[in-house]
Amino acid sequence: MANVKHIGKKACVIGGSGFMASLLIKQLLQKGYAVNTTVRDPVIPKKCQLLLLQRLGKLKIFGADLTVEEDFNAPLSGSQLVFLFATPNFSSEDPEGYPASKALAKKAAWKFAEENGIDLITVIPTLTIGPSITLDIPTSVGLATSLITGSISITHVEDICRAHIFVAEKESASGRYIVCAHNTSVPELAGFLSQRYPQYKIQSEFDDIAYKTKLAISSEKLIKEGFSFKYGIEEIFYQTVEYLRSKGALKN
Ligand SMILES: NC(=O)c1ccc[n+]([C@@H]2O[C@H](COP(=O)([O-])OP(=O)(O)OC[C@H]3O[C@@H](n4cnc5c(N)ncnc54)[C@H](OP(=O)(O)O)[C@@H]3O)[C@@H](O)[C@H]2O)c1
Repeated sequence: MANVKHIGKKACVIGGSGFMASLLIKQLLQKGYAVNTTVRDPVIPKKCQLLLLQRLGKLKIFGADLTVEEDFNAPLSGSQLVFLFATPNFSSEDPEGYPASKALAKKAAWKFAEENGIDLITVIPTLTIGPSITLDIPTSVGLATSLITGSISITHVEDICRAHIFVAEKESASGRYIVCAHNTSVPELAGFLSQRYPQYKIQSEFDDIAYKTKLAISSEKLIKEGFSFKYGIEEIFYQTVEYLRSKGALKN
């Protein structure tokens, strides 16, 4: 049921066909927001899920490319909140270009916001997994389930979306917020998963790699603001494994 407080409010979500953005739109509509969203091509089948979301509330879909400034005039018009999720896909061609482009874009955004009196908040998600309403399985879900060596910080996609809305609505929120529900290491995660899912025969013996995670990412600032995570590691993996099974990407 729509949250009466937000009826009449409008939000714009840029890059609405993405993993996080599509779920954020769902959450905003469920709260009673009217939503404008942008996708590069509003007619290709990838966006069918977005059309289904129109049953939940007022959702308008616009065509817009990040490289064309005027594409955003209409979707941004009248929006009290703007969520930017769209990101050009540099990762496959140039792995170093991706973080560099993100850092440069954030720096430019902070400068522009300061100069123009815009209340900008950035949310830094960790590797994000969980069931997706996009038609394709998101890359980050594949990555998190493939047990690649290293420290892993994990958050359920619903909590990422909840955190975005939380800081956008919170008067006292400002600056950067890290969103991380659980820090672990590959061996620790492998131990957990091999116990939980013995049928998948997951390698859980790692001689050369430290068992405990070396890097712990903290969401202290977000939690102090009053946010609480809905999903822990058990529920995150339960839902994700069920999701992969339903897609035929994992056998029972
Ligand atoms: N997933 C994670 O684990 C994770 C972790 C940390 C940070 N992030 C960041 O969080 C944000 C959302 O991540 P996600 O995984 O939800 O992304 P995603 O599913 O890959 O979605 C990215 C979106 O960007 C759009 N896009 C690409 N190039 C564009 C362009 N030139 N103009 C307009 N739109 C363009 C794509 O839309 P179309 O192709 O449909 O046009 C796509 O829907 C991204 O900024 C990502 O870098 C993600």
